[in-house]
Amino acid sequence: MKPSILITGGAGYIGSHTAYLMSQSGYNIIILDTLNHKQSFDHNWATLIKSDFADTKVLKNIFSNYNIKAVMHFAAFIEVGESVKNPLQFYENNVVKTVQLLKVMLEHNVKNFIFSSSCAVYGSPQYLPLTEQHTKNPISPYGKNKLMVEMALEDFNIAYGLNYVNLRYFNAAGAMPQYGLGENHDPETHLIPLVLRAAMENKEFCIFGDNYETKDGSCIRDYVHVWDIAQAHKLALEYLQAGNTSDSFNLGTGEGFSVKEIVMAVEQICCAKINIALKNKRPGDPAILVADPKKASDILGWSTQYSNLDFIIRTAYENENTKNFIQNKSSTQKDKEKSHNYNKI
Ligand code: UFG
Repeated sequence: MKPSILITGGAGYIGSHTAYLMSQSGYNIIILDTLNHKQSFDHNWATLIKSDFADTKVLKNIFSNYNIKAVMHFAAFIEVGESVKNPLQFYENNVVKTVQLLKVMLEHNVKNFIFSSSCAVYGSPQYLPLTEQHTKNPISPYGKNKLMVEMALEDFNIAYGLNYVNLRYFNAAGAMPQYGLGENHDPETHLIPLVLRAAMENKEFCIFGDNYETKDGSCIRDYVHVWDIAQAHKLALEYLQAGNTSDSFNLGTGEGFSVKEIVMAVEQICCAKINIALKNKRPGDPAILVADPKKASDILGWSTQYSNLDFIIRTAYENENTKNFIQNKSSTQKDKEKSHNYNKI
């Protein structure tokens, strides 16, 4: 039987890119996803099970019926601002249910776990770029959720021999539209797709705060291409399979771009002038987040191949265009069906 990997949230943004990469690397891919975020999943390279990732019955079935070598856990609530308003849901989904998943894994002797962690575990940087040793002082329930799971994993490693890699993502961006993969959040809150939509639809774009202590007053982030993030998961699994020690790694480029720089880059690529509105700072937004990726490079052998800003924006742009094309096509199809019905009447 082909070795299998269970990927929770594998129909989502980073999860689907990673699932595709792993399917191309010789694994049988089992995706657990509720599809609650209105995303569609129309690919034949994975088995999709539409379910909550902590449904014990479903998990037991999967672990009994497939030769699961590892679990990659992407499923989570991700909006930082929402986590401040609704912490209960976030703790329940991101912490309690993850522990439930780990419990069933251990019962079935599945011992390799790759966790989608976040630079949000660090809180406000005391120095830059952020190394993995930086103090963990998360400032949002979302960041605390990620840190709590990291802490549980450390204890489960000692007590039960569970092997894990925490991958602390900085700002995932870009797409692989040639594989039918891209960023399709609903609602979309992330910077690059929102700036692109403003450019494409001649809509206003809101900058959240322009009086941060940065070169141009807007926030600086480290944008890393989603395909580079997917590659890191593959390397992390190889690292665990080679018997290495459980550990945490930053996934970023080491370079930061301000919100205003992103707007300018999108304007250039789309040949459009974007209408800017200035809004208040978003709660929980540190001024600058930039990774030191040296540890992932030294230990996992990871390097970013796709993360130059131009490629990130161009692939995200292509994804937005592809989505519009599909939407227009399906509404034309619906119009045709409507007119067909009228004809019948
Ligand atoms: N921004 C705007 N206007 C917008 C949207 C975003 O100015 O309409 C700004 C934000 O204030 C921030 C930057 O663009 O300064 C990037 O914002 P994103 O929402 O794209 O990304 P975040 O940095 O907030 O979030 C990312 C991940 C989270 C993770 C977080 C850790 O998407 O999952 O980093 O800090 F938790």
